[in-house]
Amino acid sequence: MSKTFTIAIDGPAAAGKGTLSRRIADEYGFHHLDTGLTYRATAKALLDAGLALDDEQVAEKMAHKIELSGLNRDILSSHEIGEAASKIAVMPAVRRALVEAQRRFSERAPGTVLDGRDIGTVVCAGAPVKLYVTASPEVRAKRRYDEIIGKGGTADFDAIFEDVKRRDERDMGRADSPLKPAEDAHLLDTSEMSIEAAFQAAKSIIDAALSRNN
Ligand code: DC
Repeated sequence: MSKTFTIAIDGPAAAGKGTLSRRIADEYGFHHLDTGLTYRATAKALLDAGLALDDEQVAEKMAHKIELSGLNRDILSSHEIGEAASKIAVMPAVRRALVEAQRRFSERAPGTVLDGRDIGTVVCAGAPVKLYVTASPEVRAKRRYDEIIGKGGTADFDAIFEDVKRRDERDMGRADSPLKPAEDAHLLDTSEMSIEAAFQAAKSIIDAALSRNN
């Protein structure tokens, strides 16, 4: 078996890829990186410093300072930071800096799970397992809505739905590394699938690849 084994997971916002990725990493004892957090951390650092989000050179410098060990999902999960992250994610210099750090992470032994938008197409294009996790915009908006309501908050479904569609347009429409399935990715549509069913489907794909690799 080679030194490490990488599982690349891509898909749009709120498709369930985060939950699935963590579950897979736990199952196989692999290191997990949510690469969206690297874009979020860069955006938050700019916001905190009162710096503009449209200056590529400034954003690139921030991106180089991001420490993967310091990424905190709770601090970075806000809607405002997500919006800012998707704006700086269109900048090639920012992407180059973050992709370099992500690639280094992907080499950790015994294996890694990276999730994001361009893992199977750019960051780990040679990964032995690529999954593209998706769900309809309506289902993704409903999941986000239920999550907020479940935590006792208030939410407006139509506003969330519009937001999901706008985020998709930005992620799929950008020139550098747009969100799309790699040619050799396995598609997992979770619109009508539980997380458990998605996990079982992913597990059989991964087990088959691991036995080919041995
Ligand atoms: O998955 P997320 O919501 O945390 O991602 C935030 C933004 O970061 C998203 O709008 C697009 C960007 N992103 C990216 O361009 N490439 C990645 N590999 C991961 C996230």
